[in-house]
Formats: sequence, C-alpha cells, structure tokens
Amino acid sequence: MADIKIISEQLGKLGLVQPSSIENSYPENSVLDLLRNYITDELHKLSNVDKSIIFESLDIPNTLDKGDLIIPVPRLRLKGINPKEKASEWAEKFEKGKYFKEIKSEGPFLQFYASSNLLYNLLIKSTLQGKESYGSLPMGINKKIIVEFSSPNIAKPFHAGHLRSTIIGGFIANLYEKLGWSVTRINYLGDWGKQFGILAVGFEKYGSAEALDKDPINHLFEVYVKINKDATDEGEDSPIHEQARLYFKKMEDGDEEALGLWKKFRDLSITKYIETYKRLNIKFDVYSGESQVSKDTVTDVIKIFEEKGLLYEDRGAKLIDLSKFNKKFGKCLIQKSDGTSIYLTRDVGEAIKRYETYKFDKMIYVIASQQDLHVAQFFEILKQMGYGWSKSLVHENFGMVQGMSTRKGTVVFLDNILEETKDKMHEVMKKNEEKYAQIENPDKIADLVGISAVMIQDMQSKKINNYEFKWDRMTSFEGDTGPYLQYAHSRLSSVERKSQFSKDDLIDANYDLLTEECALNLIRTIAQYPEILKRAVKNHEPSTVVTYLFNLTHIVSTCYDILWVAGQEKDVAIARLALYSSAKQVLYNGMTLLGLTPVDRM
Ligand code: ARG
Repeated sequence: MADIKIISEQLGKLGLVQPSSIENSYPENSVLDLLRNYITDELHKLSNVDKSIIFESLDIPNTLDKGDLIIPVPRLRLKGINPKEKASEWAEKFEKGKYFKEIKSEGPFLQFYASSNLLYNLLIKSTLQGKESYGSLPMGINKKIIVEFSSPNIAKPFHAGHLRSTIIGGFIANLYEKLGWSVTRINYLGDWGKQFGILAVGFEKYGSAEALDKDPINHLFEVYVKINKDATDEGEDSPIHEQARLYFKKMEDGDEEALGLWKKFRDLSITKYIETYKRLNIKFDVYSGESQVSKDTVTDVIKIFEEKGLLYEDRGAKLIDLSKFNKKFGKCLIQKSDGTSIYLTRDVGEAIKRYETYKFDKMIYVIASQQDLHVAQFFEILKQMGYGWSKSLVHENFGMVQGMSTRKGTVVFLDNILEETKDKMHEVMKKNEEKYAQIENPDKIADLVGISAVMIQDMQSKKINNYEFKWDRMTSFEGDTGPYLQYAHSRLSSVERKSQFSKDDLIDANYDLLTEECALNLIRTIAQYPEILKRAVKNHEPSTVVTYLFNLTHIVSTCYDILWVAGQEKDVAIARLALYSSAKQVLYNGMTLLGLTPVDRM
C-alpha cells in the first residue's frame, strides 16, 4: 500500500490542518479527495447540506478549464433555490484557504481550481517517494475477489475471444490489487468433455510422445485436427465418435489409465501456457478447469429443481426449465443421457467449489458476449439453488475481434500472435536506422513494444465494441497506439538519463519555479490518476485508463516545447525534471496496471 504519510506530512509543513475525513474518501492517497474533504467542510458551513451529499456530488470536469473539481448545484437536492444564484453566491463567500486559488461559478456549476503550490508540493512528493504505490487506494482492504479469465481450451485454438479475456481480465485483476483487494486469478481451462475422448483416440493413431514433450500445444492441436478430419470423412457412423464417447465416459468414471493420458496432456499444456502468459506479465494463482468439478453438484442441482417442479427428462437426458424466472433463459440441458456432465453444470459446480474454498466477496468472469446466455443461465441456477453469494457474481463481457489472422495464415495460438507482432514491430523499428543501432537488445524491445501494440489496440475502446485487428495501425508510432505510449515513456526516461541530478535533488526542488501553464496542466492531470482508478473499478473499462494515459502523454509532449531542462539554470532544471519524473512515474504505473512492460529505450 501507499506510503500514506506523504500527504499528511506535507500538509503539516505547509501549515495546513487536515480537513475532516468523509466516508469513502482517501485523502492520504488522492489529493483530489483531500480537496473534496475541504470543500465538503466549507460548503457544509455555507449551505448546511448533508456532508455526504456534497462529497458525492463533487466530480472531475471533462476539461481542465472547468476546474479541478466541480459541483452541479442541482445535485445538492436543495428545494426552492435558484441553482445559478446559489452557485454565484457560494463562489463569492467560499473560504479558499491555502487549498484553492480560485472558485468560480458558471451557470449552475461551482468550479474549484486548486492552489498550484499545493498540487506541486503534494504530488511530486507522492509520486517520487511513493513510486509504484502512487494511485493505490485502500478501498478493498480485507476483501477477497476472484477474477476468472483467459480460459482457453486444451487442444483447440487460442482464439481472439481468449486473447481479449486474457488482456481485459489481467487488467481487472491488477486494478483490484492496486485498490487493496486480495485477488485470486483463476484460469478455467476447457480441459474436459468428449473432445478429450476424440483427442485420446487421435493420439493413439497420430500421437508422438516426443513431439508432445517438445511442443504440447501445437502437437495436440495437430492430432485433434487430423482425427476430426477422419471423423468427418467417415461420416455420421464413424466409429471414432463411439470410441471417443466411451473414452470420455471412462474418464468421468475415474478410470486411471484414461485419466493418466489426459493428465499428461493437461500438465504439459499448462507448463507451456505459464511461459506464454509470462510474456504478458500474467501469473495465474490457480489453473482450474472443467475437469475439476465434482459430480455431486449435478445431483444437487437435480434435487433442487426437482423440488421446484422444474426438472424434465427427455430420452434419458435431464433438463431444467428456467423460463419461469426469465423467458430468455428457456430450458437447459444439465445432464446427458449417459450420465456425463456438460459445460453448464460444470460451471455451476465450479462456482460452488470456489465459494467454499475462498469465501469471496466478489467474483468476476471475463467471458465473451457470445456466452451471455450461458453465463446468465448458470448465475440463475445458482440463485435458485439458494446461494446468497450468487449476488456477488459479475459477468464482464466483451465484443469480437475481426480479422485476427497472421500474414502467413490464420492465428492459432497466443504464441503465434505474439511472435508475429514482434516481427512486424522489428520491421517498423528498423526503418529508423540511426535509432535502431543504439538499442541494446532490439529483439526484446520489439517483443515488448509489439505486445503493447496488441494490448492497447484491444483496450482502447469500450470492451463491448467489436474491433478490427489492424497490423499497420496498431504498430504505428503515430496516433494513440501502444508503441506511442512506449515511445512517450522512453522519451521521459531519456530526459532523466541526460540530466545529472539525483532523486533527492528532485524532491527538494523549488516548485515556485514552475510557472508555465503547461506545467500546471500536467500536475493537475497527475492529480487525477487515483480518481481514474476509482472510476475504472466501477466500470471495469480498461479504456478509462488508456484514455487517461494518452491525455497525460499529450500534455507531456506540449511541455517539451516550453519546459526545457538542458541548458537551464540549475534550480529551474531541477524543478522541471522533478515534474517530468513525476509524470514518468504515473505513466509507468498506468502502463504496468494495464499489463505492459514500459521500456526505457526504443
Ligand atoms: N473455455 C471456454 C471457451 O473457450 C471459456 C470458459 C469461460 N468460463 C467459464 N466459467 N465458462 O469458450
């Protein structure tokens, strides 16, 4: 957690009394919350409005020209007043203290402009001393969350849906962690079902133990494709189907030999997955999967729906009728006629097991919107089974990616996507020969920048939107792209490298020398970072953070034209460098939160 003393220590030094703290505010971590608290106290004196109402109505305006915080007076729910008149009356009477330099009214809005001196003093220290912890907020202390994401299927392609789940889920998990929650990351593999019967039959015919060891994911996929082709060629009554069904039945019945082979496939695949996720800075706490679900669950589900009179049998298979709870849900199959389980019931069982194991306060499933109905159905089943905790289940869905194929063919696995992007990125980098020559480890940099390209493209707009996978666009250094963010970070690193000042010099800088408007815009934007995280944890949108980071880097780039460091008088150079370092820390924190590895040179 943040070094939470920084802000109060500074307040003391500035001769300021800490305003009283309001519930759900984090004045030790967010300067804007500190200001909210002060406004709340003062405005309460003027208006007598309930403190919590004032606090809640304080927003960050869309543009800096409207202030650092803004209150739409109608939000204060006062009856019989003229909001415009009240806004102008309060703007006049408001005690600015050392907190604000200006308070304005515009129509029914009250606009607050923070004291520049206060912002520089509190924020440069919070970022340079707090480092990675800047932006953290103790919102979820003592709360447990499970984030389930990625969840590919063994022996099947890792498609765009899995890629998106991985990227978005990774971000959501990091975000909760930053906000103090204890987070468990679960990968729920597609590692069960009749396809494993098919795979086993195929392995007998086409498998090689050696190839399996070397490249399990590709080899299993090869085998799977071949045997499926055979099955299709042989038509409906191909013996493969029956052999596969019998094999899977053996697995479900706990046959050791059948399970042994399956376990080998699974273990080798997981080892390979771990490596690949590492490239994306993702580490799962648990590799669960459809195989891990107990059979008793099915019996429980059946019993409960039987009691409710909602159980059906159809040619030996069991179904339940959910249409009574919501027409859209319809009837769903929960057990096949041969007694084997299916995707839906396994999800029910897995959720129950997770609650028993973790007693989570919240569980988020990051799954493509194609499965909206499936998820809604198993949430409803859990609710009808009487589990109160089913209220804390959240489905975060997302749209599709169009045209995700490599230049060589179609993308099959995550590795292929990452390799391909790296190659492409390498080509782009080589175009600037002079720069390219200076990079120590171009292969590594191409990999990291390439990964940023893929990830930023994915997180740039609202998750539910579909988007088109565009190689040229996402790997460009111009416009709002991953490589641009990396470039912005490496340029800030280069500003730091070129100067000879120490961190201590920067912390003791004389901030009065920062008088330019662009500098003020930058520090005001830096102040918003913790608030951006609060917003993101409400909407679960990576784009909230991505948009903020582009905004931040654009402001930094306007500063370069004016706020020079090289060739300046020492004190001025130090103050400016302190501001740039502060911005770099925030950019770093935001990028790592998204799952990127910021580079220092490129
Ligand atoms: N393996 C599934 C698929 O590829 C996704 C699993 C999503 N998670 C879940 N709990 N159903 O479609």
